[in-house]
Formats: sequence, structure tokens, C-alpha cells
Amino acid sequence: ERESTVSITVVGASGDLAKKKIFPALFALFYEDCLPKHFTVYGYARSKMTDAELRNMVAKTLTCRIDKRENCSDKMEQFLKRCFYHSGQYDSEENFAALDKKLKEHEASRLSNRLFYLSTPPSIFIDAVRCASQSASSANGWTRVIVEKPFGRDLGSSAALTRALKQYLEEEQIFRIDHYLGKELVENLSVLRFSNLVFEPLWSRQYIRNVQFLFSEDFGTEGRGGYFDNYGIIRDIMQNHLLQILALFAMETPVSLDAEDIRNEKVKVLRSMRHLQLEDVVIGQYKSHTKGGISYPSYLDDKTVPKNSLTPTFAAAALFIDNARWDGVPFLMKAGKALHTRRAEIRVQFRHVPGNLYKRSFGTDLDRATNELVIRVQPDEAIYLKINNKIPGLGMRLDRSNLNLHYAARYSKEIPDAYERLLLDAIEGERRLFIRSDELDAAWELFTPLLKEIEEKKIAPELYPYGSRGPVGAHYLAAKYNVRWGDLNAEHQHES
Ligand code: BG6
Repeated sequence: ERESTVSITVVGASGDLAKKKIFPALFALFYEDCLPKHFTVYGYARSKMTDAELRNMVAKTLTCRIDKRENCSDKMEQFLKRCFYHSGQYDSEENFAALDKKLKEHEASRLSNRLFYLSTPPSIFIDAVRCASQSASSANGWTRVIVEKPFGRDLGSSAALTRALKQYLEEEQIFRIDHYLGKELVENLSVLRFSNLVFEPLWSRQYIRNVQFLFSEDFGTEGRGGYFDNYGIIRDIMQNHLLQILALFAMETPVSLDAEDIRNEKVKVLRSMRHLQLEDVVIGQYKSHTKGGISYPSYLDDKTVPKNSLTPTFAAAALFIDNARWDGVPFLMKAGKALHTRRAEIRVQFRHVPGNLYKRSFGTDLDRATNELVIRVQPDEAIYLKINNKIPGLGMRLDRSNLNLHYAARYSKEIPDAYERLLLDAIEGERRLFIRSDELDAAWELFTPLLKEIEEKKIAPELYPYGSRGPVGAHYLAAKYNVRWGDLNAEHQHES
């Protein structure tokens, strides 16, 4: 069989994403022997740089796994030798043709596969795709392109982007990344649900009272305001990361684990969702705050943000899936920057036990006695189930305890970064964790009317102090549906 080779071109090689995520992930794959025997990495950007300068830049970003330090620097050397740089404009077919020539030299006469990673601002996507596909496509193997959000800023602009990309690429060549799908616990969601008898039968309105998807960061937009202000937290986190997790959580059982079967189910559930209503959404923006003598800036203090910006840095929303499984169950989302902690989790609150024999032990607060399943995506990955348990002793006193699967205690292996899994999948042609265009449309359809309304009515975000738990409006929104945010429970601090 003819030997093959893969060339990975990072377009926008000097950008933040390339340095923080893409090069380190490629190195980690190399270290784990996951890359094909013949591979070449090319950085492509406008600035002039030599191969040696690119290697220097990349070297600074590489790290070794905690559990695998031996040979690490040798491996880095070997990896860096496979990295090269090509300077060119993003809209120049000629410059891409020159890249093509260089790639051919590396590929020798092997079967050549090419992966382009567009790590550039969205304004450049279409030009770069046009040039790459017309002047630097593989002649005898596959050519694939990875793109990252923002995929437009509403249904119309996203559809226009898709149409433009499809002038040059087939849908199967486009790999739309949502890096949350590459996170270990998000991938595990389906395993948990479909391979354990004790969960799937409970996965419906019959037993589940509400589901919460929570995302918080303990830092603001610091420096990214220029990008962020044009999008806001709903587009930045909810419409993609949280909605993708929701779709995986709520979809029907797919026919198989094939990418198309899974994505078919995800689209179905997204299309069964009710459009968001303004009264089911709370938006916020962080204001400055001084704590312990340190003062933290407001969103508007960010120099890259316009003075009177109404862009939300926090949002909470109640969503509903109008199908037989989920009719009436509130799916709550909460996402914010500059909050008191960094965390992403899924919380499933179960119904009350009918005719609970032990209800006296809980006083009037029966909600406290319901089971809750928590999937902590990050940091400190864990899955735990809150149960009621008898406190050992002669009396009959109950308390709440956790059946706890704490990853650090159970698995000694370091968890790979989401980008490692996704890059590997793109190289292997596995599309399960990438977003298909109809999924993207369905996601935008859900949020677009709401986003338009917020912008047209110039809804003012509720201000919350940097480092706080966010606006109180989120509390009232949940209360409207008889829900208490799981992450605000007093006992939360003690949860492992
Ligand atoms: C990105 C958002 O998609 O996800 C950022 O644009 C956010 O605003 C980031 O900070 C969070 O990703 P992670 O993997 O650090 O949780």
C-alpha cells in the first residue's frame, strides 16, 4: 500500500489560539504517537518569520504531561524539526500556491492528505478557504478545513458563511469545532447515559424536575473585548457550548455511534425546542469591585470595549423542549464572566420521592431531599450523585451524601485537552464531535429572534460586581419555574 502523509497548516499561526491550544495539542498527539508517521506542520501568517523563529515561538508553548516527563525534551526537538513557516497573505492564491509547492516537497510522492486549521478572525475565513482550496488542495488525498466560531452572529450571517464555504468545500470537508464537545466529561455524557441501566430509564420528564447547564469564569474579557463586544455571552457560550451539551444530554438514543446517527438526533432535539422568550432570559454585565484592597475593573473599563456598551457578560435562560420526553421540564442555562469561580457543570435535579416515608426528617424543605446528579466538566472533573443517607448511630437521622466519582482519585492519567481529541478526530475523519451545518442552523434559529429583540430594544444588562455570583435576576428567573440553582446551595462549598 502506498504510504501517506498528512500536512497540517495552521492559518493564523501567530494568533492566540494557535499558541495556546493548537501547537501544544499537536505536540501532545505527537508525544502519544497518535500522529501518522509522516506529518508536517506549517504555520501560515502574514508576518515575515523564518522556520527557526516559528520553532522558537512554538517551543515556548509546548509542555509535557505531568506523568510523562522522560524524553520530553527529545520529543520536543523531534517535533519542532517537523514545523515550518510560510509567510503569505490570506487572500492570495499565489501565496497559497507557493505553500503548495513546499508541501509537495515534504510529501515527496506519497499519498498526501492536508488539514487546514483556520485560526484567524472570521473576516478572513472565506478568502483563506478559497485560496487554500483552489491553490493548495491535495491532488491525491483528502483536504479538510477546521473552522472555529464565530460562525456568523445570527441565522442569516451564519447561513451566508456556510453558503460561501460550500462554494469551495463539500460539507464533509468542513470540520466546525465546538471545543466543549472535545472535553472528556462531555464525551462521557453519552457513555454514562446509554451504557448504565440506572440512568437512561430516569432520563425524562417523569423523573427529572429540571436540568442546569452552568458555565462561569473568574476573570473578565481582559484584552478580548474587541471580539467579545460584538458577540456577547449568549453567542460566545450559550448558543454553542451549552446548547451542544444540552443536545447531547436530551437527544433520543441514536441508531448507532456513527457521526451521522448522532448528529441526526442532536438536530432533532434542537428543532423540538421552543424559541427563547425575552421574559425567560436575564442578562448582566460586570461592574468594578474592590475586595481586599484590590480593585477589579468593570467590563466598560476594558479599553477595547465601547463606552456605553450594553453587551451582556452574563446570561441566564430557561429553555424548553416540546417533545414527549421533555415536555414541561425547564432546562436552565447560566453563563458568565468575572464571577466568583471558574467552573462548568451539568446538574440534574430529580423529582421528589412520592409519599416519602422519611419526609419528616427533612422538615419543610423537601427540595433538599431530592436526588441531584452533578457532572463537573471542569475543573477537577467529577461525577457525583447526591443521595439521602442515614447518619450512622442508634437514632434515625438522615443527611445528604455524595456517591462520588472523582477523576483525580480514580484515574491517574492526565486528561487530554479538548483540542487534542478534536485534532486527532479531524485527521482520522471522525466527524462525531463536529457541528454539521443543519445543527448550526437549528442552534441559530433558536437564539436569533431573542438576540434581535435584546439588541433592538436595547435591553440594559443588570450590573453585578466583578467576582460575585452574578445578578439576582437569575435567582428570580429560576424561582419562576420552582427551581433553585444547584451551584448556589449553601452546602455547595462542602461538595467534593
Ligand atoms: C471560548 C470562548 O469558546 O471558550 C471564551 O470564546 C471562553 O470566551 C472559552 O473563555 C472557555 O473555554 P474553556 O475550555 O477554557 O472553558
